[in-house]
This record gives sequence, structure tokens and C-alpha cells, in this order.
Amino acid sequence: MNYLKANTELWNQRVDAHVNSEFYDNESFLAGRNSLNSIELGLLGNVNGKKVAHLQCHFGQDSLSLARMGAKVTGVDISDAAIDKARELNQRLNLDAEFVVSDILTLDKKVEQKFDVVFASYGVIGWHPDIERWFEMASYLLKPGGQLVFVEFHPVVWMFDNNLSKVVYSYFNKEPIIETVTNSYTDGSQLEQPLKEYGWNHSLSEVFNAIQKAGLILDSFDEYDYSPYDCLGKSVPSEHGFQIEGLEGKLPLVYSLSALKK
Ligand SMILES: C[S@@+](CC[C@H](N)C(=O)[O-])C[C@H]1O[C@@H](n2cnc3c(N)ncnc32)[C@H](O)[C@@H]1O
Repeated sequence: MNYLKANTELWNQRVDAHVNSEFYDNESFLAGRNSLNSIELGLLGNVNGKKVAHLQCHFGQDSLSLARMGAKVTGVDISDAAIDKARELNQRLNLDAEFVVSDILTLDKKVEQKFDVVFASYGVIGWHPDIERWFEMASYLLKPGGQLVFVEFHPVVWMFDNNLSKVVYSYFNKEPIIETVTNSYTDGSQLEQPLKEYGWNHSLSEVFNAIQKAGLILDSFDEYDYSPYDCLGKSVPSEHGFQIEGLEGKLPLVYSLSALKK
């Protein structure tokens, strides 16, 4: 199974559709909208003057939002098409972010610098079989005392089918989840051809143990009954974002954490 090759092809194919989607609303982003949500903004605080590594930056909206907030940003993603677009937007907005094409699990071969903050959010660790290594790489990038800010969809979400209508996977699922996808989570835009994606569901205990093993100290953890993004099954708007119709307030959809490097 070459999961990296398959997932890279999938993400490369999604870039143009995402840039042009209502979901990412690139027009308002270019006009000045900050793409970060209140959950991560609260944990990040003032990033002005800080060196920030943004892992799995996709086509760079969040990285460039951080750059607009005064951070010196390095965005990383495995998709060369996404990184090309991020570099183009960086130039267009006259910002000074840098972008690197790399698998996160082998990032130490590409990046030697150390950062004040490592940031990653919404749809990141599920693309990796080995999350101990993922958090080891996050820790590797941090200066002593540096902060990891991590916001992710809750593993409970990935137990369900795509409509969040029934449980199909175990919370403790260890095997890869291999699905054939024909469109994306944005506006349902079709891919040129159906593609395989490889994902893994990582429970919260896996995450906490990986953080500890990587030499990071957890200093905050929260769970949310909403998602800021409308991408999880049949949803209804709620006060802060979106909830699942019929299960409003009953499911954790997102969690966030901050951890410090010893
Ligand atoms: C759901 S997106 C992340 C969402 C992001 N917060 C945003 O701004 O849209 C997942 C990203 O992870 C990247 N990715 C998937 N597998 C990866 C890997 N092994 N190493 C680095 N990036 C990877 C994809 O290319 C994609 O851009």
C-alpha cells in the first residue's frame, strides 16, 4: 500500500476546486478575511514576531492569515499543487511566508529551523498511520518552551458513515480506512476520476500518549459540540458553527489542545 502516493494525488487533485469553492471563499480571504477560527485564535494568542510552523497547510489560507497577524510562517504540506498555490497567494498578498513540500513524518530531513509555535488544524492526523512520529516531528520543530497548538476533528466523528447517520467503525480502529472518493468536502465538486484515500482514526488516548512520549506537556484540552466548518454530514447552523441534525449538542465534533515543549 503506497498511502503517501495515493493521498498526495488526491490532495493535488482537490486544490483547484478548493481554491474556487464557497467553502474556502478565497475572494474574501484575498480581501482581508482572517481564515482562522476563534478556537485556534484563542490558543494562539498574539503571534506577532513569532516563528510559526504550520503543518499540513493545504493551499495556505491559515498560514497567510498568521503571516498577516505578524508571524514569520513556514507552511508544510505533502501536496506540491497546494504548495504552488500557497506560494502564489503569498506573492500576490506581498507576504513573507515560506512553504515546504514534505511528508510530516520525514520533515526532519527538510527543515532544520526551530519555531516558537507549531500549529495544525482540522483534518490532519487522520492521514498518518504513525501519530507517535507525527508528534515527535512537532516536538522536533519546537524551541524549548515553544507551544504546539492543535485543533482536530474528534475521533468520535470518524466512527460514523459520511452522513453521521450510523456507527460503522470502532473508536479503537487500528486498520487503515480505505475509501474511494469521487468528490470533496467543500461544495461536492467532482474529482476528475474516483481516487482512493487512506486514513486512520486515532483515539484521544493515542494522542495524549504520543504527546507525552514526544516530550511535550499538555497545558490545555477542550472538546466542542460544534464544528466551525460545515463539512460533517447533515448539519444545522448553531451558535458558533455547525452541529449534526438530530444530534445537536450530543456529539463531540472537534477538540483542541495546547502543549509545551520541555
Ligand atoms: C484537511 S487538509 C488540512 C486543512 C487545513 N487546516 C486547511 O487549511 O484547509 C489536510 C492537508 O493535509 C495534507 N497532507 C495529507 N497527508 C500528508 C502528509 N503525509 N504529510 C504532509 N501533509 C499531508 C494534505 O495535502 C492537505 O493539504
